[in-house]
Amino acid sequence: MTLPGMINATNEVEVKVRTAVCPGSFDPVTNGHLDIIERGAQIFDRLYVTVFPNTGKEPLFTLEERLEMLRAATKDLSNVTVESYDGLLLDYVRMRGASIILKGLRAVSDYEYEFRMAMMNRKLDEKVETVFLMSRVEYSYLSSSILKEVARFGGCIKGLVPPEVEKALKERIQERTKGR
Ligand code: PNS
Repeated sequence: MTLPGMINATNEVEVKVRTAVCPGSFDPVTNGHLDIIERGAQIFDRLYVTVFPNTGKEPLFTLEERLEMLRAATKDLSNVTVESYDGLLLDYVRMRGASIILKGLRAVSDYEYEFRMAMMNRKLDEKVETVFLMSRVEYSYLSSSILKEVARFGGCIKGLVPPEVEKALKERIQERTKGR
């Protein structure tokens, strides 16, 4: 085991960089996601926030739009990198030299789904740990899908997403309504 700052046999100081990956579909990013990302960025040395395009859900925003919104929202977090990967999460984690998958946990209803994914990922590579951060109470009910539904029917989503995302959501929903 190498501890940060440990001196090895050849008298060199070994610094272990803790790299984590925060995966998701981020369609779009919410303040709930950002809360987990900001707290994760304080815990880990390096955090990759990674958009996976193929989650079986029909997206409202393109991959490029989702990346752009995430990059704008995390621009002040110097140890955060936003990118996308189309493949197995575990392959991506290994490719980035990470050892941690960071996820947010909201209500009890998240637990079963997250448990299954964490167990499967452990089966694929037991050296990779899934770490959960509890959502803040004010975001514990918030998901991208519930947000899109409220926005679609003109409900107020202020304070639940960054202002640029709120604007983009309203525009996209208007476009879709007109197109019908
Ligand atoms: O935000 P979401 O939709 O809950 O994120 C789901 C995500 C992207 C974390 C999950 O679908 C995923 O890990 N996809 C990558 C493909 C993969 O490795 N699937 C097996 C997971 S056990």
